[in-house]
Amino acid sequence: MSAKVESQVSLKPYNSFGIDVKARHFAQATSDDEVRQLLAYAATEDLPALVIGGGSNLLLTQDITALVIRMNSSGIHLLSDDGQRVVVEAEAGEAWHPFVQWTLEQGLVGLENLSLIPGTVGAAPMQNIGAYGVEIKDVFAGLTALDRQTGDLRDFTLEDCDFAYRDSYFKRKPGRWVILRVRFALSRTAALHLDYGPVRQRLAGIEQPTAKDVSEAICSIRREKLPDPAELGNAGSFFKNPVVSGVLAERIREQHPGLVAYPQADGEMKLAAGWLIEQAGWKGYRDGDAGVHALQALVLVNYGQASGEQLHELAQKIQDDVLDRFGVELEMEPNLY
Ligand code: EPU
Repeated sequence: MSAKVESQVSLKPYNSFGIDVKARHFAQATSDDEVRQLLAYAATEDLPALVIGGGSNLLLTQDITALVIRMNSSGIHLLSDDGQRVVVEAEAGEAWHPFVQWTLEQGLVGLENLSLIPGTVGAAPMQNIGAYGVEIKDVFAGLTALDRQTGDLRDFTLEDCDFAYRDSYFKRKPGRWVILRVRFALSRTAALHLDYGPVRQRLAGIEQPTAKDVSEAICSIRREKLPDPAELGNAGSFFKNPVVSGVLAERIREQHPGLVAYPQADGEMKLAAGWLIEQAGWKGYRDGDAGVHALQALVLVNYGQASGEQLHELAQKIQDDVLDRFGVELEMEPNLY
């Protein structure tokens, strides 16, 4: 076997919360073959296998007895280019933001609004990452995944992935598929997505913004509000923005006229979870090293030595309080182990 399995490895460098738990068995996979070898090894050793990407959507609350397989494959290829529509394929282990920057360097439009999102290419479709009016589903051209039940490779189309807000077919079938590579339909000419107010404001002085200008604007907006995991452990938005009935949204608005809510196609309303959490008084809260970011209430942070359990307890307190005050259930975004 070419991949090396190590014992008792700290996962601190491999999760963006910086939580110090150990994996009893840990290996990095740089190719399809290594993924297969490691899964076969886990099967013969009777170990469950946990496949991770950049670890930016994980809350680790205990040592992991499974074989942790970190996807570390690399490679970016142009699959087709008709002068307008360009299909690019990237291996699962490629880091997301450098990949976005590579596409921008090639003059390609499509991923600029998704700049500076932590994590890897392979993890991006799992929860249909999104920001500033664009989700991965908007530029998705397909992916190849390994079926852990049969060992077969399968190509998935947009329809197969059944993407929804921070959700996909893969998220609903945890442990079944390993995403190996993802394809994106980009463009040399497409229009930019500037519907999000702060992005437009930031570009006000530029007459004909390029995709690179949009990317820079988005990086600067994100840097203002979202902590850099290299400096302060976090997993981005910790809760999804809850979608509630129009009736409930109205009832909340009567008590709280400042409610931030976005109408959905079917009459439901998506509420800004950060607003609810801030109104409930949690913004800037800190208990030991577990806290709520002072500039963005939707982001839980690890000031250094917080355990996953402490962060999980804090999350549960926030969920209980928001349910009590507003009758709204908050769903966690990161996967809990
Ligand atoms: N708000 C508050 N207080 C806060 C935070 C937010 O009142 O502490 C209000 C803001 O004033 C604003 C509204 O809530 O009116 C929405 O805030 P923001 O635009 O910052 O976006 P968000 O809903 O907090 C979502 C995504 C982010 C994405 C941004 C921009 C989710 C769960 N989060 O955040 O995604 O970057 O929109 O599109 O959908 C992530 O998923 O990890 C993530 C960072």
